[in-house]
Amino acid sequence: MEGLKILSTGYYPGEKVVTNTDFEGKIDTSDEWITTRTGIKRRHFSSHSSAYLAIEAARQAVRDIDLSKISLIICATMTPENATPSNACLVQEALGLQEQSIMCFDVNAACSGFVYALEIAKSLLVNKDQYALVIGSEQLSRIVDFTDRSTCILFGDGAGAVVAKKADGLFVSYNDASGTALPLVASFEKDDPYLHMQGQEVFKFATKVIVKSINEVLQRAQMTLDDVDYVVCHQANLRIIQYVYKKLKSSPDKFFTNLDEYGNTSAASIPMALAEMNEKGLLKEGMKIIVVGFGGGLTWGATLMEW
Ligand code: UT7
Repeated sequence: MEGLKILSTGYYPGEKVVTNTDFEGKIDTSDEWITTRTGIKRRHFSSHSSAYLAIEAARQAVRDIDLSKISLIICATMTPENATPSNACLVQEALGLQEQSIMCFDVNAACSGFVYALEIAKSLLVNKDQYALVIGSEQLSRIVDFTDRSTCILFGDGAGAVVAKKADGLFVSYNDASGTALPLVASFEKDDPYLHMQGQEVFKFATKVIVKSINEVLQRAQMTLDDVDYVVCHQANLRIIQYVYKKLKSSPDKFFTNLDEYGNTSAASIPMALAEMNEKGLLKEGMKIIVVGFGGGLTWGATLMEW
């Protein structure tokens, strides 16, 4: 089977750490409420744009990579620095690759963006000598209403990046969307530029589509969850992930989480998790992992691949 081999990873969380207690006194909330309802303890905010965060994560991911082989840069984001140029083009410039023949563009599939981008990278890479730089990057603090206690405690800023190439190996994907704007909207309206979410609706949607997406890729690969080493879900809420592993009769050890430290970083959460797992030496050659995204659009999807 033709798959995608991830050669390297990098990540860059926003530079300012904000704890749950930092919100106390500013809005009507508590560390206890946020921890028990979400599992989040801290998040990182940045004064820099998502392009800057993408560049920093990309610099780490390419540090031991032959840059001349990069033929594709994709940045998944719903908070791009500009309408144009794309974050991906700004990464190309920052890496000094202006003269190189590279297709560069951003993808907006909200929190599913990185999973979509992996599938796109696999489709666009022509041969095994070409590399794709695939990034998820968000500056969500830019679109969060800090007076809305039901959303402002959830999100964080950061970026994760991978360099991948085509290779023989497992790559089974399932990506989908439902074209339902509510219950998760962030518009470009000048008088209301904030993200609005009906939390309970999104919670129900998330648990349903994560289970569906995991089962879908397992079925397509004719495998069971026992054959898989790690599942990396979009990091939105620990209770969502707990629901999923209980429903699938699996164990917490298989489901990596780092949302306690970073909160929900939308399209950045999965590549940041992969990079952190890689840094900790958790990912070994040949391991089977599932990445699962879900979010605004509504969008969702999963990929089962070999490390
Ligand atoms: O990346 C996109 C995907 N997003 C998600 O996956 C988010 C999915 N949804 C969730 O994670 C949860 O629904 C939330 C964490 C957003 C909310 O948790 P919940 O258990 O669903 O709470 P709720 O919305 O039912 O609210 C329960 C109560 C309400 O008060 P009343 O009406 O019962 O008096 C809220 O006003 O909790 C209140 N509340 C808070 N209280 C203290 C909401 N936010 C807070 C807060 N601190 N920060």
